[in-house]
Amino acid sequence: MKLKKYTTKTLLAGGVLSLVLACSSPSGSSKWQSFSGDKNIERKVDSVLALMTLEEKIGQMSQFSANWDVTGPVMPDDFQPYLEKGLVGSVFNAVTVPGVRKMQEIAVKKTRLGIPILFGYDVIHGYKTIFPMPLAEACSWDLELMKKTAAIAAEEAAADGIKWTFAPMVDITRDPRWGRVMEGAGEDPFLGSAIAKARVEGFQGGSDWHSLSKTNTVLACVKHFAAYGASESGRDYNTAELSQHTLWNAYLPPYKAAIDAGVGSVMASFNEVNGIPATANKYLMTDVLRRQWGFKGFVVTDYTGINELVPHGIAEDEKHAAELAVNAGIDMDMTGSTFIKYLKKSVEEGKVSEAAIDNAVRHILELKFVLGLFDDPYKFLDENRAKNTIQKPEFMQVAREAVAGSVVLLKNQNQLLPIEPQTPKKVALIGAMMKDSINVNGEWQGRGDRNQSVSLYKGLKEVYKGSAVQFSYAEGCTLTSNTPESIAKAVATAKTADMVLVALGEDFNWSGEAACLTDIRLKEAQRQLLAALKQTGKPIALVVFSGRPLALSWEDANVDAILQVWFPGTQSGYGIADVLSGAYNPSGRLVMTFPRNVGQIPIYYNQKATGRPADPANPDVDYHSKYEDSPLTPLYPFGYGLSYTTFAVKNAKLSSPTMAKGGKLTITAEVSNTGKRDGATVVQLYIRDRVGSVTRPVKELKGFERVVLKAGETKTVSFEITEELLSFYNAELKKVSEPGKFTVWVGQHSADNSNEMSFELK
Ligand code: NOJ
Repeated sequence: MKLKKYTTKTLLAGGVLSLVLACSSPSGSSKWQSFSGDKNIERKVDSVLALMTLEEKIGQMSQFSANWDVTGPVMPDDFQPYLEKGLVGSVFNAVTVPGVRKMQEIAVKKTRLGIPILFGYDVIHGYKTIFPMPLAEACSWDLELMKKTAAIAAEEAAADGIKWTFAPMVDITRDPRWGRVMEGAGEDPFLGSAIAKARVEGFQGGSDWHSLSKTNTVLACVKHFAAYGASESGRDYNTAELSQHTLWNAYLPPYKAAIDAGVGSVMASFNEVNGIPATANKYLMTDVLRRQWGFKGFVVTDYTGINELVPHGIAEDEKHAAELAVNAGIDMDMTGSTFIKYLKKSVEEGKVSEAAIDNAVRHILELKFVLGLFDDPYKFLDENRAKNTIQKPEFMQVAREAVAGSVVLLKNQNQLLPIEPQTPKKVALIGAMMKDSINVNGEWQGRGDRNQSVSLYKGLKEVYKGSAVQFSYAEGCTLTSNTPESIAKAVATAKTADMVLVALGEDFNWSGEAACLTDIRLKEAQRQLLAALKQTGKPIALVVFSGRPLALSWEDANVDAILQVWFPGTQSGYGIADVLSGAYNPSGRLVMTFPRNVGQIPIYYNQKATGRPADPANPDVDYHSKYEDSPLTPLYPFGYGLSYTTFAVKNAKLSSPTMAKGGKLTITAEVSNTGKRDGATVVQLYIRDRVGSVTRPVKELKGFERVVLKAGETKTVSFEITEELLSFYNAELKKVSEPGKFTVWVGQHSADNSNEMSFELK
């Protein structure tokens, strides 16, 4: 189609869509960067911009909530009048095809320019089919799986009228007290970056913006930029005070990876970063994001993030806050109504330039074009597609596999697990989480139905149907209380069995946003039940449901097996039962360190050495960096997880003891399944830069490969070490690699010092 000349007459006759529909489709280029620079799109954006009043432009920069699943303070203003005046750029929490259509029709048919609305929603770990919470799924170290579940979530959401998700959350997390650790990929920047890329590509259908117009993709939003996970004392919304060195080396890489993977939007975080709240932080939003990283999409605040600049103490009032935000580089106000209320006046007073407004609107309109909303505002509204897409059996199957792939076997003394279906055994099923289906989806369950999720009890009954295993049941305790009778009944049930399978853990409300804890042990009522069961002398396998790493020191010392299952989602019971029965050999590996006690927090493997590093093997040597009342080491380190088989990583070889600048090295190692069952392990490559111009971590993950091996099988893994892999941000924040010695380990977790080698970068 040819580009039609635009006149006021056509505007009045048919709205802006008549112009837009007349534009030819974007030409040629395959990469999102060049697509976003496409003159054709720019021309389209400019032609719309030229029609807009200042008020309408500000409207595009405003997002309103449909008052559904509200996750923060509700703004008093109802957005309906704004909607009818064409002053709503985006709506969130409006879901289902009829619900979304109603609003879109008002925007398209009743407003002066008919600019379509972009509908967003928190599709965090599934839309209707709920997958394991993101931290759990990250424990699979399976990037293809994560891409696939994000793609399914996108397909379901896009079938139900949603075209924008506020995910992935890529905040580095070192403090399990913080409830939001459940939403991310854990503590490591290297793994976190790979997962950020996989999730963005999963949601958006690739790193190419062309896929965004498809009916099975959604626009992703990387969040929360920046360093939200560094909130002091694990308290949500709290201050992040961290050096530029730590910001750049540890916290920023996953956001950058998401930008490089083509993420179309970024969410500013609630927290302040070194004195300036992210929402007003020009350094982060403009200098880093736009200038250094070349981000071309748009930036949205978090929920009322602009209004919160007032209590932060950086803005006098909301008008001032809106000015700070837009001048910092924020494009859209999430539900705060500050832009819509004050920006016009600020422009008139010269406090905000109209060029800044145009710039923000351009970013938003460009994405609306890319998403195909101007071509067909109802493109993502099709009842039949919704009916035929949501919870397809194949999605449920992927969810079940994702559950099994995400659980982490932390302890398995005397091979208590698996519970073989063909071996006659009496198993007492006990615990508050055994029959629970309400908590298992975890926080941020989209449109998931908590009543529909499969409890562990149901999963076991199904998987062991017709087997030689006999189950008995007693609840024993709720998540927070027990009675002498409930404990006595559980003990009596345990006594009649050969072994006890106890399911305990957290309420889903104890993690997620604004859900932080100072005590991360199992609640006392649960610990009392465990202690009573221990007295029976029966072997105990504990299944832990939680939104965070818990402090499981007592449990580690007193039960025989521990299976960490997190909050696994819709197919919980089936996936866990697959693992307990041995149908699936667990292969999950921790992505966050498990502390022994809350006093060790923050605890993470890639720490600095200090000038007085303690030797865990000689803990009594004084005047070293350690505790008097606790070991220094974690209970379970980053990267750790057991299997029903055993693996060995041996014969690691470096292609050369030296590496020239700009050169490469290859490391190969043999990984063998030394046990009797097929299984998978994750071979992990760690590197230490021995001497740097700034101190370097004691170990850093620099490569990993999930290897599936038949019993007795050996495979060779190979990692390439490039100069880029050895580089870091120095004191001047330049990314450099420095000549000198490096130590390398190839093993199965971060505390595994096998295959130590060294090389020199010349
Ligand atoms: C606040 C949360 O911090 C953010 O992650 C979420 O996307 C928004 N609310 C919208 O629900």
